[in-house]
Order: sequence, then C-alpha cells, then structure tokens
Amino acid sequence: MALDDICSPRGEFNAIMMLPPPAPVPPVGAEGIMSTNTFSINNDHRLDLPTLDTPPRILLGAGPSNSHPRVFSAMIAPTVGYLDSAFIQVMDEVAELLRYAWQTDNEYTVVVSGTGTSAMEAAFANVVEPGDRVLVGVAGYFGRRMVDIAGRYGGDVRCIEAVWGEAFTLDEIRQAMEIHRPQVLAVVHAETSTGVRQPLDGLAGLCREHDCLLLVDTVTSLGGVPLYIDDWGIDVAYSGSQKCLSAPSGVAPLTFGPRAMAKINHRQTPIANFYMNAELLGKYWSGSPRGYHHTAPAHLFYAMREGLRLVAEEGLAERWLRHQSVAETFWAGLAEMGLTPHVALEYRLPSLTTVRVPAGVDAGAVARRLLNEYNVEISGGLGDLAGKVWRVGLMGYNARRENVAVLLRALAEVLGR
Ligand SMILES: Cc1ncc(COP(=O)(O)O)c(C=O)c1O
Repeated sequence: MALDDICSPRGEFNAIMMLPPPAPVPPVGAEGIMSTNTFSINNDHRLDLPTLDTPPRILLGAGPSNSHPRVFSAMIAPTVGYLDSAFIQVMDEVAELLRYAWQTDNEYTVVVSGTGTSAMEAAFANVVEPGDRVLVGVAGYFGRRMVDIAGRYGGDVRCIEAVWGEAFTLDEIRQAMEIHRPQVLAVVHAETSTGVRQPLDGLAGLCREHDCLLLVDTVTSLGGVPLYIDDWGIDVAYSGSQKCLSAPSGVAPLTFGPRAMAKINHRQTPIANFYMNAELLGKYWSGSPRGYHHTAPAHLFYAMREGLRLVAEEGLAERWLRHQSVAETFWAGLAEMGLTPHVALEYRLPSLTTVRVPAGVDAGAVARRLLNEYNVEISGGLGDLAGKVWRVGLMGYNARRENVAVLLRALAEVLGR
C-alpha cells in the first residue's frame, strides 16, 4: 500500500480494509481461558456511589445561571455523529441564530467547544501575531485575563487601566491609541468582575483610523444587554453559553468580521493553536464538504440551539428590556434596604450588579448563608473588589421578578434589615 494512501484523509479507511480479519475473542467465564480471576484489580479507588443528587440552587451569581428547562429537554435528543447531516443542520441553525443574537452578518460565526475562556483564547490566537501591539482596556478581572492570553500568543501587550467599577471614556482610549498605535484594541463590554458596561460607541471609528482591529468580550452581554456587532464595527467578539443565553457552559460563541478575516488570511506566521485555529475550525463549520476537526459535544450544541431559539422566540429588544426592567426592580429593592450598587447608573450592567458590602458585614458569611439556608447562590467580589462587593447576576432565564423577590427577602433576613 502506498504511503500516500495511508496518509490521505481516507487512508485510515483503506488501511482498515486491508487488515486480515481479527482473531476470534476467547470466551470469558469459568470454562474459557479467561475469568475475572485472571486480572488483578486494585479496588482502592472503586467508589460505590448513589445516584447524583445536586441541590436545587437558584444561581444568581456571576455565572453560571440556571439553564432554561427547555434547554435541558433539548439536550436529551439522541446523539448523532459530528458529520451527520442532522448535526450539520444543528450547526447551521446555531450559527444563524447567533448572527441574530449578535446582530451581525459575519459569515464566520461559530461556537468553539469549550467555555468562554476558550473563545477568548481563540480570538487572540487567531488575530494576534508575535510582535503585534495589543492594547487592552483593563477595568477588571477579565481585562487582566485578556492581557495574559494576548501575551502568550506573542503580543506586545500595552494596557490602559481604569478603577474597578468605572468605564473608560472615549478620550482615554483615543489617547492610549495615539501613544501605543496598536494592531488590536481589546475591551470587555460587560465586565463581570465589576458590573460595568463599557460603552463601545466611537471605538470602531478610532480603530479604523489606526488600522487596528476591535476585539470585544461579550460573555456577560450577549442575549441580555444591547449589542450590535455590525453597527458598532466590532471585528472580533466572543461569548459564553452559561450567562444570558441560559445554557450550560461548554460551548462558546465566536465571530470574526471581514477585517479580522483579512488579517487571519494574511498572517505571516502560523496560528500557534490547533484546536482554536480559525481556518481548520472553519472547514468544519462551512467547508465543502465539511471536514472533521474535533468531535463536537453534540448535546451542548443542542443546548445552545435551544438557548438561542428562546432568544429568537422572545425577540432581542424584548429580552434586553426584560433584563433592564428586572435589574431595575432589584436596584429599587436594594435601595429600600439601604444597600448601594457599586457602579454609577450610567454604566451599570443589568445582567450583573455589584452591591457594596455594608461596613462590618462579613461578605463571605452572608453568601454562605444564602446558599446553605436559602439555596440561592450569589458571588463574592474578585480581585480589587474582593470582600467589598457581592455580585448578583440576573441573566437569561434567571432574569425574572420572582428571583429578585426571593433574593431580596433572603438578603433582608440574613442582614436583619
Ligand atoms: C466577561 C467574562 N469573560 C470571560 C469569562 C470566561 O468564561 P468561562 O469562565 O466560561 O471560561 C467570563 C466568565 O465568567 C466572563 O465573565
């Protein structure tokens, strides 16, 4: 057999066809050659467990949020192969519904098999070449993560920093662009560590003046907060499934606009990542014929499809308004209790509110009591805000008034207010 046959995409099949038939398997059992006594097994780690029984939490922290019940129902559809035409149809539907949720016509709109961080990694791995200057707006924990990842792909990373709880002004970003002249500007639209919504108006214009790509983290905004990829001139965006899309974590949306694709297609250096390589992944999503890249987690794709189907059914504008009005109900309840959101109204995210911990209150102890006594999860502060705020997520399926009522009542009891 020629080596080319073995190495060709069909080589594996050819090689199998030419193998001699397998030898018969010896019978197992008392009369056969083998019995269970043939093998020496160490049973030290062999647990005998009851059926899994996790507590019924209401997840009102920084994520995950509870998946919509319809999402779980969709997940039990039968498994199909990763190139089955039925699965290709699911992929196409997911891509199209994502275009709706993101308000984009970007052809390259996919989900990567991994959590939000994997999509963040995919974004940087593809558009950053070694030596590229990357300007990152760091106003919280996830801005810092961008710095880390961009650096790992050889980016010459420059930062502009904001106090945690504040947003950058367009002027601040303009000045930093003039100083650093980056090839990529990266910002977090919805900073889950601070509860700030970073305004994006004007950034696309700046980026075009500087021949620079605009890369935006939309993990906590997609499906919950107004966001227009095309109208706002965003070149690269990624997100997560477990926040406002009401699906379990494990697949993460990613989109590249035409300017980003031009940069990827004209790279001087290969993309230093196989799994997140846009070209290889693209062949799976839109190649003709579609080609194997990895074994997509079918049931998580079904979940994403259902989560996005719910977005389309509700309508984006209605969904954004629901998130805003439920958050406003929560903020009003906080005010009645004498509690203060950390972020000024102008920049406050509806999907994630940071609430200042009153003086003398142990933030961790309150969160533990909410979890253990009320089955309600909220998150503590991260990084610069550790111990200073609680983080409350009202995202997707969980952005409902009854959840606000449960949380406010529980908080009032625990705080004695
Ligand atoms: C703004 C933001 N970016 C990125 C991530 C990373 O996503 P994941 O934890 O799904 O990897 C998160 C997670 O909370 C996030 O909130």
